[in-house]
Amino acid sequence: MSQHTDTPTAAKDGHTSRRFFASFYERMSRSSGEQSFMNPLRKEVIDQARGVVLEIGAGNGLNFAFYDPGRVERVEAIEPDSAMLRFARERAAQARVPVNLTQAPVENLPFADESFDSAVVTLVFCSVGDPGRGLSEVRRVLKPGGSLLMVEHVRARGAIAATLQTIITPITKLVAGNCHWNRNTEKTVSEAGFQIEQRRDMGGFMMPVVVLRAVK
Ligand SMILES: C[S@@+](CC[C@H](N)C(=O)[O-])C[C@H]1O[C@@H](n2cnc3c(N)ncnc32)[C@H](O)[C@@H]1O
Repeated sequence: MSQHTDTPTAAKDGHTSRRFFASFYERMSRSSGEQSFMNPLRKEVIDQARGVVLEIGAGNGLNFAFYDPGRVERVEAIEPDSAMLRFARERAAQARVPVNLTQAPVENLPFADESFDSAVVTLVFCSVGDPGRGLSEVRRVLKPGGSLLMVEHVRARGAIAATLQTIITPITKLVAGNCHWNRNTEKTVSEAGFQIEQRRDMGGFMMPVVVLRAVK
């Protein structure tokens, strides 16, 4: 079940590196290693989503299969990259809930204030151009008491690992869709005005992963 909208304000791309990254990401996401690590985390956060859901940076649509029509009425999924959207459209068509796809960046959400019950974000804020502005936009469109459900790889706590992340970040930005390995996304979530209700560290030396639930 899907619809697709290219908004006039959409961030258009078309760069070869983005197309290359989308194809690489699609191939990687079919691997058993990625699925065995990420699928339980995708299920864990999406099981907490309710009502009308905003999914940010949907990528190639790997989360869509996890939405349960018993809990979720509709998903509005945004994704700025047209190469990713091509894969996402196919997965949206297979979803068990209606999924509307819109080409837009999180920094400029084409939705009214207080429209959503939940927002789902998996592996996105490492790549966003302006994470603070993006999270303020997510807060704007969530209803009071609405939840932000997130899985992100983040800045390492240890000084050595964090320094190595900072050294490698110029390369990951170039080859992995603007991915910053050294971002303290949890701090940015708090600074945007969310209350963090639950957090879980998944460990990882150079690429630690955090699972968060925050409320507006
Ligand atoms: C590593 S992929 C993750 C895709 C998907 N969420 C998943 O869990 O597989 C990161 C995604 O964030 C998207 N992204 C990057 N900058 C963004 C922005 N400013 N607003 C929304 N999404 C963005 C990218 O286009 C890409 O699809």
